[in-house]
Amino acid sequence: MSARRPGSQASRPAAVIVLAAGEGTRMKSRTSKVLHELCGRSMLGHTLAAARELEPGRLVVVVGHRREQVVAHLAEHAPDAESAVQERQGGTGHAVRMALEQTGELHGTVVVTNGDHPLLRGETLAELVRAHEGDGNAVTILTTLMPDATGYGRILRESGGADAPVAAIVEHKDATDAQREIREINVGMYAFDGALLSDALKRVTTDNAKGEEYLTDVVAILRGDGHRAGAHLTDDWVETQGVNDKVQLAQARRQLNDRVLERHMRAGVTIVDPATTWIDVDVTAEADAVVLPGTQLHGTTHLDEGAVVGPGSTLTDTRVGADATVANSVCLGAEIGPEATVGPFTYLRPGTRLGRKAKAGAYVETKNAEVGEGAKVPHLTYVGDATIGEGANIGAGTIFANYDGENKFRTEIGDHAFVGSNSVLIAPVTVGDGGFTAAGSAITKDVPPGAIAVARGQQRTIEGWVERKRPESRFAEAARRARDERPDDE
Ligand code: UD1
Ligand code: CA
Repeated sequence: MSARRPGSQASRPAAVIVLAAGEGTRMKSRTSKVLHELCGRSMLGHTLAAARELEPGRLVVVVGHRREQVVAHLAEHAPDAESAVQERQGGTGHAVRMALEQTGELHGTVVVTNGDHPLLRGETLAELVRAHEGDGNAVTILTTLMPDATGYGRILRESGGADAPVAAIVEHKDATDAQREIREINVGMYAFDGALLSDALKRVTTDNAKGEEYLTDVVAILRGDGHRAGAHLTDDWVETQGVNDKVQLAQARRQLNDRVLERHMRAGVTIVDPATTWIDVDVTAEADAVVLPGTQLHGTTHLDEGAVVGPGSTLTDTRVGADATVANSVCLGAEIGPEATVGPFTYLRPGTRLGRKAKAGAYVETKNAEVGEGAKVPHLTYVGDATIGEGANIGAGTIFANYDGENKFRTEIGDHAFVGSNSVLIAPVTVGDGGFTAAGSAITKDVPPGAIAVARGQQRTIEGWVERKRPESRFAEAARRARDERPDDE
């Protein structure tokens, strides 16, 4: 049993071996099972994050099925992990054998984990290692009492009750009816003595229901040699669940999300509706940030103190300054200054930087755009490749035309400049400090500071046109009424 020895310190294991070569047929996907994502990380990424908390000497991932995807994923997201190839999936014992062929015999503690248990915490693995080393076992198995143990390997204890040493693990398919009654299951995480593991794996056979080399058979082999096999029983069976299909993936995602939300709420973040809020594991937030319903925070998004995000917003890799607000918006790689306001229905794209108290309002899209302190882009505007000075005002419907079909150009708007509604600013172009553009202008030439540029057709008014051209129409009737009602002296 787990006999937690107070004060006993787990060593750094020689290696953690993560099994990720299996086919995962039940996912029904062209993507490798272990690369399916939850809360901003792949299943494998979560497993590796837990493994890293043990600070192992080597981090080895056994790859096989769709290994080109897994190897590329490791190169990008986990360069500290090495991969060991298992050409054919000959079972979990065979997989560990392939890993050890690559590393050579390992001395000290070797931890083996299945790659499809994204909820398992590093702390639980550390407890397993502490129990293993504290009890002086040859192997220690992480176990739990599953409400429904179907499919799992069952833990057989020596006579003497629930605390007795472990005798063997019997796979569900190989178990007798009586053995299937056992609720204590093999989670799929183990701590081994490295040298004894190498030796025992040579003696594992394929004489079983699946015709595979079972890693679990190592337990009975080591017992047969007179070594001690133990179990570390964890009472949180939810954390130990594996993911084999998309139903379980969704369940695991919900569990992990709950855990992330709870961490933020305990740290002082207000989350109004946890049921409709999704936050990735690497998102950070200060106390008194508020997240309103229907909001998703992805990647490295950060919320400063008092920031209010939502409802209905999706932020990716975006920083939201103190007391800023973001409503019903999508923000990607944006930096939102303190007290700035965004939304509703605003799309901030990469390279957007809103200064303090700046505003990006309804139906505004920005990209590579710097909006100065207190500057306002309140309605229906596209701002691409632009700098907008502090206190400037961009009228409704303005378009920053930054693209000529081949190249992109910048527009610069000075401090306290005023761009009239429905202007088209054809880049490259500059409006100087305090400069104006008249509503409806198509601006192609620089506007000096303090000038107004008017670039639109003159208005021509033709009196009486309607009554001449549409004499019987309702338009003409309205016009006549208006004329007749006009006081004579006007
Ligand atoms: C395994 C255990 C079972 C345990 C269960 C927990 C064995 C024989 N049985 O069963 O006792 O209760 O996990 O989830 O180990 N893999 C490889 N190469 C292979 C085969 C599998 O890398 O040749 C990997 C898979 O990708 C997976 C892990 O090993 O990550 C477990 O394999 P899986 O086939 O899911 O084992 P189970 O039958 O679930
Ligand atoms: Ca499994």
